[in-house]
Amino acid sequence: MDVKSAEFIISNTDYKKCPESKLPEYAFIGRSNVGKSSLINMLCNRKDLAMTSSKPGKTLLINHFLINNNWHLVDLPGYGYATAGKKMRDKLQEMIESYILYREQLTCLFLLIDCRHEPQKIDLDFMEWLGENGVPFCIVFTKLDKLTHAKGVSNVQAYKDKLKEQWEELPTIFLTSSEKRNGREDILNYIAEVNKTL
Ligand code: GTP
Ligand code: MG
Repeated sequence: MDVKSAEFIISNTDYKKCPESKLPEYAFIGRSNVGKSSLINMLCNRKDLAMTSSKPGKTLLINHFLINNNWHLVDLPGYGYATAGKKMRDKLQEMIESYILYREQLTCLFLLIDCRHEPQKIDLDFMEWLGENGVPFCIVFTKLDKLTHAKGVSNVQAYKDKLKEQWEELPTIFLTSSEKRNGREDILNYIAEVNKTL
């Protein structure tokens, strides 16, 4: 799929105020600073469509972007933002959880994982919660450019082995680098294929 147009629509704190249109929606989630906004910019061929920052906690709202006038891409705040106060963390968590559980247009969630780290409890718990609630998701490994090819491959394999302890079937997995623009076609083609089935 080619991204011919990408347009920011609206930011919200409440899923109930998200766009009323029935277009299918693909949302990006993961720990703070994992590279969600960077990936969205890479997918859309834009530098500053979604705001990025080297400091965690940049995205604090549910951000809707309209792609090719036929689907929505959604940038979500990161979870597990350690330096935010508890009140702020709870508020963000409530906002993210209710969006995921109640937003009917949500078609697939892309869960981003930094390929450099070992499997983290917070991500595994989050996947378990998605599974329990029947939320369709894919895993996107980010920042592959920060590792050698061999190390990237072995980290991803170790992650899959860990997931196999918990899951009978693994979700679709993408390997990406926003820096090197890797994985773009794979994700966009996946979205195009799912859109065709709707
Ligand atoms: P929050 O909105 O704070 O939750 O963060 P986010 O997940 O949206 O992360 P963001 O895209 O803002 O990126 C965080 C930092 O990681 C920035 O300094 C990015 O430049 C950097 N980064 C993101 N993706 C990549 C990548 O593929 N490669 C490299 N080398 N750096 C990346
Ligand atoms: Mg962000």
